[in-house]
Order: sequence, then C-alpha cells, then structure tokens
Amino acid sequence: MKKILVTGGLGFIGSHICVSLIEQNYSICIIDSLINSEEDNLLSIKKICNLSNNFPKDRITFFKGDIKDKRFLMNIFEKAVDEQKPIEAVIHLAGLKSVNESIEEPLTYWETNVVGTINLLEAMQNYNCKNIVFSSSATIYKPILNELVTENSDLGPISPYGTTKLTIEKILEDLSKSQQNDLKIINLRYFNPVGAHFSGLLGENPKGRPNNLFPILLKVASGEYEKLSIFGADWPTRDGTCIRDYIHVMDLAEAHISALNFILNSSSIFINLNIGTGNGKSVLEVVETFKKVNKCQFEYSYVSRRNGDIPYLVADNRLALSTLHWRPQRNLNDMCIDAWRWKIRSKSKFT
Ligand code: UFG
Repeated sequence: MKKILVTGGLGFIGSHICVSLIEQNYSICIIDSLINSEEDNLLSIKKICNLSNNFPKDRITFFKGDIKDKRFLMNIFEKAVDEQKPIEAVIHLAGLKSVNESIEEPLTYWETNVVGTINLLEAMQNYNCKNIVFSSSATIYKPILNELVTENSDLGPISPYGTTKLTIEKILEDLSKSQQNDLKIINLRYFNPVGAHFSGLLGENPKGRPNNLFPILLKVASGEYEKLSIFGADWPTRDGTCIRDYIHVMDLAEAHISALNFILNSSSIFINLNIGTGNGKSVLEVVETFKKVNKCQFEYSYVSRRNGDIPYLVADNRLALSTLHWRPQRNLNDMCIDAWRWKIRSKSKFT
C-alpha cells in the first residue's frame, strides 16, 4: 500500500481528497496547521471510510504542523523512512488562499505559500520523493471575456495570492528541468470548487467571515445572514452577473486520484491541467438553482462590483479529460444539494 503525504489534508479540499485516497487503498499521512481547518475533519474522514478503531494505524496518520517549519517536514519524511514505509508522493495543498487577505498581507502569503513549498521540495529532495500533485489555481490566468481558458492561455494573476501560485508552478517547472531530478509533477489549476461530501459529514467551513459565494449562500439560506449581496449587475455577461466554472469538490478530489495514478505510472513529467467542468454559471443562475433544488427562499440584492473580480472565468478542460481519463460526474444541482445537506448537518455543531 503506497503512502501519500497530503499537506493541508484537513482543509475543505484536502479532507475530500483524503476520503478518495483511502477509498482507493492508499495509506495517507496528513499534515495540517489547523489555521483554517478543523481537527474534527479527521474523525469525519475516518467515519466516512468506515475506519474502526482496529484498522491498521498507518492507514491514516495526522501531524499538526506548518510547512514553514522545515524541521517538522524533514521529520515527517524521516519517520516514514524509519518505519520502512517511505512517502511515495505528495499532494500539496497547504497554503493561504484568500485573495483579499493576500492584497493586505502579501509577505505573509509569499512566506507561507512560496517559502513553505520550497521547504517541502527540499524535504522531498532529501528523502528522494519524486512525485508531486500541486494545488494550483485558475486565478493565475489573465482575464479574457467569453472564451474558455486553455493551459496555454495568457497568464497574469491580479492578486498576490495568484502570483504565489504561479511562482510555485515556475519553481516546479525549473526543478523538472534540472538534470538530477527526474521528477513527476502535475499542477492542477482549480476553478471554483464547491459542494460537499454526499454524507454531509465534510464540507466547507472557513474560519472567520467567508468571502466566497457558496459559504455565504449557505449562511444566507440558513438565516445566519440577512441577505446575499451580488457584486455587480452590469457585467458584460448574459444576465449581468459574473460567470464562473463551479466544480463539485468530490469531482476535484477524484481528479487528484487520477493525477496521482498517472504520475505513479509514468516517467519524468511536468504538466499543467485545468480542473473545471467547462460549463460556466452566473451568480444569478447559482442562486436560482440553489433555491429551486433545496426548496428554500432568501433575499438578495445587487451591490457594486467587488474589487478584483473579473466577469468570466471558465475552463477548457479537454487536456485534463484526455490525460487523466477523468470526467466531472456532478452538476450544479448536486453541488447545491450536497452543500446544503452539509450545512444542515453541521449547523448545530458550529452555531
Ligand atoms: N459573489 C457575490 N457575492 C458574494 C460572494 C461572491 O456576488 O457575497 C460573486 C463574486 O463576485 C464572483 C462569484 O460570486 O463573481 C464567485 O466568487 P467567489 O469569491 O466564490 O470565487 P472567485 O471566483 O472570486 O475566486 C475563487 C477562489 C479563489 C480562486 C479563484 C479561481 O476564491 O481562491 O476562484 O478562479 F483563485
């Protein structure tokens, strides 16, 4: 059974990936600083995967720590080697991810995301681990209107968060070119991951006030917030609201498994892949779908555009489909229904 290190493995996306990894018979080692995640997610992962108390302890291990701490990372790899179960691959998600916060605190973002990743890559190099799937973002693309972005579209992030993601891709590309390395690297450029695990046991629960559409929508629908503010009604789109490529978090998790299987079975490779559905939905379409499928009512109003927003960002995902033999299975209805199921189940826990 191959051992995979998942950095940021208790976060929204990481926890769903961990479920998929266990289901695919991998053994996982999770590291997470818990800065923006809950240790409870570990229990939920075990519950979903039916891991009782007498399962082999090394199916899933968790270490609390930060990727800024190089010694901590080295110890993780060292321990795995000592136990004769070395880490074969890394799925690297740990990092800060708020676009707004990154504009206010760019140095914090550069230190955590870029320096943290360099620490991780040094540890991997030290312990001869050559496989990495990196959690990149569609935010690295230069905005273009009404055209799907391919992996070769122009790059031009407009926030420090996006710049750190692009910088990490560049570091990985440089490493892939270096003679002594023989690395296998896939950058997965996520579009807008939303939804929740079907069980309702895992979902998105950001600490502090949420910025993203779905967590806010859930708070409005559950009555915690009075109404939804839609940022702009005058964008050059079909209904005047922004269009995004929302992808179910379980489809995203499954893309990671396909990417992992792909690199574990290939020789040296460096590849960027768009992970989206290729299907754009406007904010208004999301709101109307959510109300309809969940049979709930809430108010919304239009406010001025949000700083840094772009009207349209949708993936051309054909390269991911053909390379990974992966295909998103869930539609916007599923995303809305699963997210709401998670909200209802977790409401009593978090309010
Ligand atoms: N929106 C509203 N009201 C809200 C919140 C969001 O109208 O209260 C709108 C936004 O203006 C945007 C859409 O909903 O048009 C989606 O906004 P999100 O904040 O959910 O997502 P973004 O597309 O802005 O950004 C997300 C992630 C980034 C990532 C990017 C990649 O937050 O981390 O997708 O495309 F980089």
